[in-house]
Amino acid sequence: MRLRDCHNFSDFRRMAQQRLPGPIFNYIDGAADDEVTYRRNTESFERCDLVPNVLRGVSEIDMSVTVMGQKLAMPVYCSPTALQRLFHHQGERAVAKASAKFGTMFGVSSLGTVSLEEARKISSSPQVYQFYFHRDRGLNRAMMQRAKAVGVEVMMLTVDSITGGNRERDKRTGFAIPFKLNLAGMLQFALKPGWAINYFTHEGFKLPQLDEHVDMGGGTMSISRYFTEMLDPSMTWDDVAEMVRLWGGPFCLKGVMSVEDAKRAVEIGCSGIVLSNHGGRQLDGSRAAFDQLAEIVDAVGDRIDVIIDGGVQRGTHVLKALSLGAKAVGVGRYYLFPLAAAGQPGVERALEQMRVEIERGMKLMGCSSIEQLSRTNLRFR
Ligand SMILES: Cc1cc2nc3c(=O)[nH]c(=O)nc-3n(C[C@H](O)[C@H](O)[C@H](O)COP(=O)(O)O)c2cc1C
Repeated sequence: MRLRDCHNFSDFRRMAQQRLPGPIFNYIDGAADDEVTYRRNTESFERCDLVPNVLRGVSEIDMSVTVMGQKLAMPVYCSPTALQRLFHHQGERAVAKASAKFGTMFGVSSLGTVSLEEARKISSSPQVYQFYFHRDRGLNRAMMQRAKAVGVEVMMLTVDSITGGNRERDKRTGFAIPFKLNLAGMLQFALKPGWAINYFTHEGFKLPQLDEHVDMGGGTMSISRYFTEMLDPSMTWDDVAEMVRLWGGPFCLKGVMSVEDAKRAVEIGCSGIVLSNHGGRQLDGSRAAFDQLAEIVDAVGDRIDVIIDGGVQRGTHVLKALSLGAKAVGVGRYYLFPLAAAGQPGVERALEQMRVEIERGMKLMGCSSIEQLSRTNLRFR
């Protein structure tokens, strides 16, 4: 399969599957428990119909949005994801460059494989730092100061990963960092020598956001131990309120789902919340963000920027979310499969397809700007 054969999410997913060793593909593609939430994330958009208006003079389309004070040329951004250089040697570099080209925001994960500093140099687009809360408060402060010094615009604290999700596909293959592959997993790597050449002929694996503070790179600490030993499950709203104050800039919580929590996020001064179930990778059975969106927008949408992610594969999915009141939409696997399939050109092709689909969808809906999208154009089955 070649890049020019990829016309949608499923095509990129298939091409990524051809390139990646099974354990890595399944790490990206997999989710928690029975993967019910993962499946529902995309299905939830299918229960919503668009009702277009016609004859509205839509020759010029403006799809720009402003979210948490950041102006984005398109309403979709690349949500932070871990371990990108494992998927393709260009990793976060490709995602940062592609996001800059499309004038949109990108996230760098705490478990990112390129440093915040380097990503900042590559891209002038708004940069998000996805943060986990550590037991060591000094470490939290040091990491935030580092992000501030780098010029990161938005701090994004992930609050749905207080413990790791039960990813059974990873258990079956033995996927872990450092690798602990079982025999079947090793065989899968042997079957994809192209990936191995790409991986081993480039710089070694690192986790630069953590290496300075935690002994990860040397292989002494696994990611699962990092979650259980370093992160703080006793984190409370007071802790986060202090972080918001210390950061003093756009701060959002990723993984808020309830109205009660959304209201508390407003109270402690957050600028945004991302309704998210972590792509179905954490709490299986958790509601799809799109299903929960209207309730949250009605409760807090006039006081905080409400963003969603999960299951987005099409421009029309984005239009549905924006019509319900989301300010922007995050994507994960939507750009990760293209990254794995073809590096930067893959991510660019996927973002271009998204841009074109949004533009076409807006024209067909009779809307020339995002403000014109509204609930009057939606019906639910
Ligand atoms: C392979 C992979 C790694 C991820 N790593 C992180 C991470 O390090 N931090 C985080 O907050 N979210 C992480 N996420 C979740 C994404 O930021 C996002 O919430 C999710 O992918 C959205 O669902 P989607 O993949 O269906 O678009 C990850 C998702 C995937 C698929």
